[in-house]
Amino acid sequence: MYLGLFFSLQGSVPFLVITTCGATVFGAFDSLEEIAAVCERHSLWLHVDAAYGGSALLSNRHRHLLKGIERADSVTWNPHKLLGVGLQCSAFLLRDTTQLLEQCHAANATYLFQTDKFYDLKYDTGDKSIQCGRRVDCLKLWLMWKALGSKGLEGKVDRVLDQTRYLVEEMKKRGGFRLIMEPEFVNLCFWYVPPSLRNQEDSLDFWTRLGKVAPIIKERMMKKGSMMVGYQPHGNRVNFFRQIIVNPDVAKEDLDFFLDEIERLAEDL
Ligand SMILES: *Cc1c(COP(=O)(O)O)cnc(C)c1O
Ligand SMILES: *[C@@H]1O[C@H](CO)[C@@H](O)[C@H](O)[C@H]1NC(C)=O
Repeated sequence: MYLGLFFSLQGSVPFLVITTCGATVFGAFDSLEEIAAVCERHSLWLHVDAAYGGSALLSNRHRHLLKGIERADSVTWNPHKLLGVGLQCSAFLLRDTTQLLEQCHAANATYLFQTDKFYDLKYDTGDKSIQCGRRVDCLKLWLMWKALGSKGLEGKVDRVLDQTRYLVEEMKKRGGFRLIMEPEFVNLCFWYVPPSLRNQEDSLDFWTRLGKVAPIIKERMMKKGSMMVGYQPHGNRVNFFRQIIVNPDVAKEDLDFFLDEIERLAEDL
């Protein structure tokens, strides 16, 4: 959570709070109910960046992650992420009823946009966007929603979270995988401790050496052409893998392969 503008000696006051639902590295969700209460008390605009985590709303089992999102003033949501809508499809949802987009962006060019049409102009997006020519990205979501139904979309969300859970349980059964934390979403962050470093946690250079493991494994998987999984350091944590499942068609065998392959590639490390 970030305050848009900080209190300063100049007397500036915050007007905006930006929260995240589904943060990039850990997939963490801010506690919207508590933050919304503060925003309401101080008349602050509450924005929820749900680009990544917003799709959890489609699942009965997982929508609790976004509890309180209905109190937001604005929300961003990318159906091109978890739902797999073709790139790009990014929604910006506004509670506003004062035609804010028109106030901000309208150029009022009468040679392009007639104002004396036979239907309600509030549905006319022509003069409300920053650019003039643009693609109809929402059509891709609409078509997918029509084709699969809400149940179908819910199934996609539930399956990727089930697969993540499966991967966590399998990791716990194996020797070398060390979770950074229990995943809140589909981000599974972990170290792989290769055979030569097992039970060395007390040694002085354990973490330095562990930090070099993920880059080597990634290099090997890419050169072999078998997989590609990202890694990063975070704060005082050395390089760890970040496995994210967004494809609901990934099978248990694929996930088993993922674990076997890491073990194979790190056998001699
Ligand atoms: C992907 C992502 C973004 C960026 O969204 P774009 O539509 O690609 O600009 C912003 N915030 C979060 C949390 C994201 O996961
Ligand atoms: C265009 O019209 C809108 C709505 O009436 C108004 O808010 C806005 O200031 C106008 N913009 C320009 C550039 O004239």
